[in-house]
Amino acid sequence: MNLKARINNFTYPIKIGTNILNTLPKEILKFTKSRKVLIIIDKNLSKKYEKLLKKYFGKYDFECSFLQISAGKKCKDIKNLLRIVDFLEKNKFSKDSTLIVLGGGTIGDLGGFAASVYYRGMNLVSIPTTLTAQIDSSIGGKVAVNFNNNVNAIGNYYHPKLILCDYKFIKTLPNRDFTSGISEVIKSVLITSKKDTKFMSQNYKKILKRDKQIILQMLKKIINIKINLVKRDEREKNVRMFLNYGHTIGQAIESSLNLKSEHYRHGEAVALGMLCVAYMAEKYFKAKNLYSDHIKIFKKYHLPLNIKKFSKTKKQMLNIIYKNIFKDKKKNHTGIRFVLLNGIGKPSIVSNFNERLIKESIVRLIR
Ligand SMILES: NC(=O)c1ccc[n+]([C@@H]2O[C@H](COP(=O)([O-])OP(=O)(O)OC[C@H]3O[C@@H](n4cnc5c(N)ncnc54)[C@H](O)[C@@H]3O)[C@@H](O)[C@H]2O)c1
Repeated sequence: MNLKARINNFTYPIKIGTNILNTLPKEILKFTKSRKVLIIIDKNLSKKYEKLLKKYFGKYDFECSFLQISAGKKCKDIKNLLRIVDFLEKNKFSKDSTLIVLGGGTIGDLGGFAASVYYRGMNLVSIPTTLTAQIDSSIGGKVAVNFNNNVNAIGNYYHPKLILCDYKFIKTLPNRDFTSGISEVIKSVLITSKKDTKFMSQNYKKILKRDKQIILQMLKKIINIKINLVKRDEREKNVRMFLNYGHTIGQAIESSLNLKSEHYRHGEAVALGMLCVAYMAEKYFKAKNLYSDHIKIFKKYHLPLNIKKFSKTKKQMLNIIYKNIFKDKKKNHTGIRFVLLNGIGKPSIVSNFNERLIKESIVRLIR
């Protein structure tokens, strides 16, 4: 199954299927004559995939190098960025050679950013291996590293030449990472459509079993949602911001403890952020049942419903999260902007919330 992302002047294919990695060399030769590739690979996946990729590229006489990086939030830092750039420079990579990222959102964000700055941009191919990366982070061009415990503080917009989504990666994901990806899937359907939200609700058993047909159907739906929003607004001035549903408070929760720890997976924190804004929206729009609709679907997918305070007090945790909200990159002169739903599929941007309501939405979840 092939989709096409058309974003401003960029058009690139998104191939979705099973066992499609062998098509990689031929696909690369469609956009460059250079047979030199560097694969930034998640260390957890290198044992299984390095040999296979060497074989596929060997058949087409590619010169193929690997750089293994341990995935997780801690990998998105300047040190790893420089490690990649150093490798590219020392091994004489040029602009028309290709950097491939094979891993989840963290490897993709890091490697994508490196590709965007090396000689002001070299070819990038994305092989997303987590659900989050397949339906969200690999599409739309946002690449970044963290800085000073601030999520994605240094980043860029940079599109790949090709995205390959292989179902077989989904099969080996640990449950926690699969669920974290489901949180971003649910975010996408909540902001766009009652029908797709129903699809997620009705098919939860098959989806949790990772049934191939239903997962491929889900991937296609959610990737299309992302493409359609990003093509209307690449630089996040209006509708793309809807994809940040749950993120303003979610990322504040994610960085409430040391970002390098994995207290929260990104999607888990986003789920908690969605609960906070669902509560705020019920008060703001008088939207009925919105909060309970979130709870119903979150329970089906075992998403978190409470913010853990770990070794902090409730008050300390609240204050840290509240302070972190103001680091949000989406704030402008009018202050912090929240994506709120006036019912499922009806998102809007609201700014200038009063402190009391924001804090209330958070504190009631802290346990
Ligand atoms: N750029 C964007 O638009 C965007 C959007 C959403 C999220 N993100 C970023 O994505 C990151 C989170 O990504 P993630 O959830 O993919 O995390 P991740 O990259 O840390 O991967 C999670 C875990 O899954 C393992 N893993 C990856 N693929 C696997 C597979 N096929 N089988 C078994 N294990 C596998 C990894 O080794 C890691 O331990 C965050 O940094 C977030 O900021 C970016």
